Amino acid sequence: MNGETRATAVAHVNVALVKYWGKRDAELVIPWTSSLSMTLDAFYTTTSVRFVAEPGDDEVVLNGAPVTGVPRQRVTAFLDLVRTRTGRTGKALVDSENTVPTGAGLASSSSGFAALALAASSACGVELDATALSRLARRGSGSASRSVFGGFALWHAGHDDESSYAEPVESPGFDPVMVVALVDTAHKSVNSRDAMRRTVETSPLFRPWADSAPADLKEMRAAVERADLDAVGEITERNALGMHATMLAARPAVRYFAPATVSALDAVLALRRAGISAYATMDAGPNVKVLCRRADADAVAEAVHAAAGCPTAVAGAGPAARLLVAP
Ligand code: ADP
Ligand code: DP6
Ligand code: CO
Repeated sequence: MNGETRATAVAHVNVALVKYWGKRDAELVIPWTSSLSMTLDAFYTTTSVRFVAEPGDDEVVLNGAPVTGVPRQRVTAFLDLVRTRTGRTGKALVDSENTVPTGAGLASSSSGFAALALAASSACGVELDATALSRLARRGSGSASRSVFGGFALWHAGHDDESSYAEPVESPGFDPVMVVALVDTAHKSVNSRDAMRRTVETSPLFRPWADSAPADLKEMRAAVERADLDAVGEITERNALGMHATMLAARPAVRYFAPATVSALDAVLALRRAGISAYATMDAGPNVKVLCRRADADAVAEAVHAAAGCPTAVAGAGPAARLLVAP
């Protein structure tokens, strides 16, 4: 199948409640630890992939502008993997739109590579089941393995390409939201990939944190399944702060905290003291996500906005990745 084919896919970002931080195998993207996430309704990526018969360099456009350098290489390396597996030849034209800020610690690589995996494989005439799609998306960005699924997803670290994939975690009646404090939406100066490599290679706190992850995951899975917001929140917050401790102890340190980040974290403590169940998590960036009950979303957003002085957005659990236009 080497004529012109195309497909368009949508995938939503996911935010980890138990984090992935550190690779055992960088080439295959096999993580040190398993992780568990919530997919968000408010932020997503739409990606169209068109393969044409002619050979040549792939063209990649994101939010209307050509992509160059490392971000382009990541996409072309991913397309090469898809071409090798499917036998497809010819160059690809990729056109992607993020509704989430790119590279700001708001998980754009999770939705970006999940959408690319689904669009590219479909444009090559291949229909992957959810497990195979999760494994493929993982090769683009580890967190993308979880954005294949809606709701809550558990990425089993595994030990090789076959065994490292995500699957949904059922949580009947659980309907929390994340209030996102948009502290700074500019592209981070150290991307997640480089930051986690440096952490694994130089941080004396990395192994202790990784060693504590299986217990966090076990407790988290049970807490999500019984829809226990306070238990989910407590594990979420301690796991994320622990991850940031590993980064702060790297040499040189990786520090994603901005002054407004700390203000937002203070606001979360004050909310809890006032009796509102609110728990913070942060990824590789200064933005803070506050997990809380849907009924408390407005109060939490107001408190965080007042403390951090930044815009906020409210996100509930989002849907699985899906095709918009089949080839
Ligand atoms: P984030 O916190 O946004 O996930 P990362 O450092 O993990 O930050 O990843 C940011 C990188 O992900 C971008 O520089 C780019 O290489 C890639 N990326 C983000 N969105 C897309 C997209 N829609 N299509 C392809 N690649 C993307
Ligand atoms: C802090 O999936 O962005 O958001 O696999 O190198 O692309 P690569 O990294 P990425 O790392 C995400 C790290 C995190 C935690 C998480 O999402 O689990
Ligand atoms: Co990322």
